[in-house]
Amino acid sequence: MTILAIETSCDETACAIVKDGVTELASSLATSKELHEKTGGIVPEVAARKQVESIVPVIRDALCSFSKAQAVNPRLVNPRLVNPQLIADLRNIPTQNLDALAVTVGPGLVGSLVVGVEAAKALSLAWNKPLIPVNHLVGHIYANFVDNKEKIEFPAMALVVSGGHTDLVLLKNHDDMKYIGGTLDDAAGEAFDKTARLLGLSKYLGGVLLSNEAAQCKTNSIKGSLPRPMIKDDSFDMSFSGLKTAVRRLVEPQLIAAIPKAAARPEIAREVEEAVVDVLVSKTTRAAKKYNVRSILLGGGVSANSRLRSEMTKEGHKMSINVHYPPLRLCTDNAVYIASAAYFCGKPKPLDKIFVNPSLGVMDKV
Ligand code: KG4
Ligand code: ZN
Repeated sequence: MTILAIETSCDETACAIVKDGVTELASSLATSKELHEKTGGIVPEVAARKQVESIVPVIRDALCSFSKAQAVNPRLVNPRLVNPQLIADLRNIPTQNLDALAVTVGPGLVGSLVVGVEAAKALSLAWNKPLIPVNHLVGHIYANFVDNKEKIEFPAMALVVSGGHTDLVLLKNHDDMKYIGGTLDDAAGEAFDKTARLLGLSKYLGGVLLSNEAAQCKTNSIKGSLPRPMIKDDSFDMSFSGLKTAVRRLVEPQLIAAIPKAAARPEIAREVEEAVVDVLVSKTTRAAKKYNVRSILLGGGVSANSRLRSEMTKEGHKMSINVHYPPLRLCTDNAVYIASAAYFCGKPKPLDKIFVNPSLGVMDKV
């Protein structure tokens, strides 16, 4: 079954075509990130306008790569650079080889989501193909199933760690998911972003930069100076909002003076990264043990973090549990995993029953 999926939940516009939930046939993506870096945060109106600008070129690009026609660049499309020749190529698109469409309906920014959902509905009508609504957070979990040479065994414990969410979900099977715990306040990605900003590393998404800074620290001589919130708590809930205040205290001039100057920022970055990863790994492996799972799945932007990947793998192996994480390009937002989630656990719905829902939780049905 071949599914064309559209993802427009935030500042990425993406379209992908995936066979049987696992084989990526085409993928294209445009992002408005650089605009939000200038303003130091996302301006929903700006993101939505960029979605409108990019949606047609991105869909066209995915379709053109699918049909083996020339594509500008299958991974990144700049709408202003789209070759007019591609419009002619569209006439030869073999849409008869597409079985269904899928689209992210939430969570995300309402103005951005509407662009993708309405485009998907229009294509569904024009091509007479069923449309499958997808929860973006479930999508992050399914990034693990794409082009994965290892078989994912159930039951599995999934950790969804993105800029807006941190959730632990038990998958007994594709259609049997249970919420186990998650953050009570800030998401792990938000903790990375806010502390990266405090350290002067970035104004918008700082996770990668903070992680790169941390990599420059050889030994963490301030280990344990930041809290590992709720790590000893019996529940599987987490809390990351206090971390920012604790980091602020750490970067106060008198405290910084106590740390050798050149090492100050990398050391603090390393301690932030270790604090977040310690909590995520401890909660996930404890949940994995309690529910006797055979696999651990990481998903979401923060699953790109190399310390999280390596520490989770190390701890998982101690318990003979296979730890899976997506390739880097499938950690952050894209449409490939939306198609995969649609294939494994989605159901088509009549177009007038498909709605945008900006505040969907990971367990909410769509
Ligand atoms: O899943 P995603 O692309 O967007 C949301 O759905 O939220 O996740 C973005 C988040 C941001 O907070 C970003 O800083 C974080 O993922 N992130 C990372 C890394 N790469 C992205 N955090 C830590 N280490 C990384 N290497
Ligand atoms: Zn996401």
